[in-house]
Amino acid sequence: MQAYSALLKILNQAIEQEQVLLKTAIPIELYEPMNYIIGLGGKRVRPLLTLIGCDLFEANPNDAINAALSVELFHNFSLIHDDILDNAPLRRGNTTVHEKWNHNIALLSGDGMMVKGFEVLSKSNEKQIPELLRLFSKTGLQVCEGQQMDMNFEIQEKVSVHDYIDMITFKTAVLLGCSLQMGAICANASLKNQQHLYEFGMHVGIAFQILDDILDVYADDEKFGKQVGGDIISNKKTFMLLDAFELADENQTKELNHLLYSNIISNDDKVKQVTALYDLLGVKELALKEANKHTDIALKHLDELDANQSKKNNLKEFALHLLNREM
Ligand code: IPE
Ligand code: IPE
Ligand code: MG
Ligand code: MG
Ligand code: MG
Repeated sequence: MQAYSALLKILNQAIEQEQVLLKTAIPIELYEPMNYIIGLGGKRVRPLLTLIGCDLFEANPNDAINAALSVELFHNFSLIHDDILDNAPLRRGNTTVHEKWNHNIALLSGDGMMVKGFEVLSKSNEKQIPELLRLFSKTGLQVCEGQQMDMNFEIQEKVSVHDYIDMITFKTAVLLGCSLQMGAICANASLKNQQHLYEFGMHVGIAFQILDDILDVYADDEKFGKQVGGDIISNKKTFMLLDAFELADENQTKELNHLLYSNIISNDDKVKQVTALYDLLGVKELALKEANKHTDIALKHLDELDANQSKKNNLKEFALHLLNREM
């Protein structure tokens, strides 16, 4: 986005510097996968949000660059481990770390990258370190809690929409809230502004994950960069699946249960037939509605924020653009 080209330049330079360090670090078996996943890019949403959160309050975005790097390192760590948990073959259009190397390498390079996140964060302005550290570590633990809930739900029969929203809030949304708030902390913003910004990011994050779940079923393979249908294959309790169970008649419920729990049906057929049921029941539209509900809540928090109106407009536009990811 044009409005953020200066922030993106700062961010890309910092990431490149990080990669130069990773390239020469030894043992290479540990650092090469870190460099690989970071080099595959991604949208860089979270670190950009950190710089935006700082810039919103008229501070120098360079003051938030370490916090920004730390959230992107944490995010990339979480992706390496998430792909093991989800048995995923593809990430950002390329082979996942555990498939390109192996599980042990993926675990350890992921661990190392998470620790690096903390190391980089510790280079922030000394006065702000305690606050940043508290928020970052609380959020990191919540992400792990959300990931555990996500796995529990794969085999748990009764999952409510409320449980699902809690789960995605933890595994995904809090990190977006944290990214923005860390930027605001670096800018010495008031607590009230920090909280509105956090809530804004969190609700954008909830909408973002609902959308990610929709894309997991309906995206174009090439553009998505991940395996389409992966959530269906692993019985992820997404909003769409929960709603499908809610809306299904007796025969459709039987069919859905058969598709989920039979071990004779191929993955391809499972994805095709579950998707056909989703289409019949109209659950994609319902999920989009739920996502929009959270986008609206997010925007209310943005309204409440005491900051420059044109900067707030840029952030609103960015969030709406992010939540309009192509199918
Ligand atoms: C992927 O996040 C994990 C989710 C929370 C859905 P992104 O969609 O931001 O992944 P990258 O960083 O752009 O690849
Ligand atoms: C992502 O959830 C949550 C974390 C990475 C912590 P997903 O499992 O839906 O993310 P993708 O779709 O693999 O990116
Ligand atoms: Mg995954
Ligand atoms: Mg996952
Ligand atoms: Mg997903």
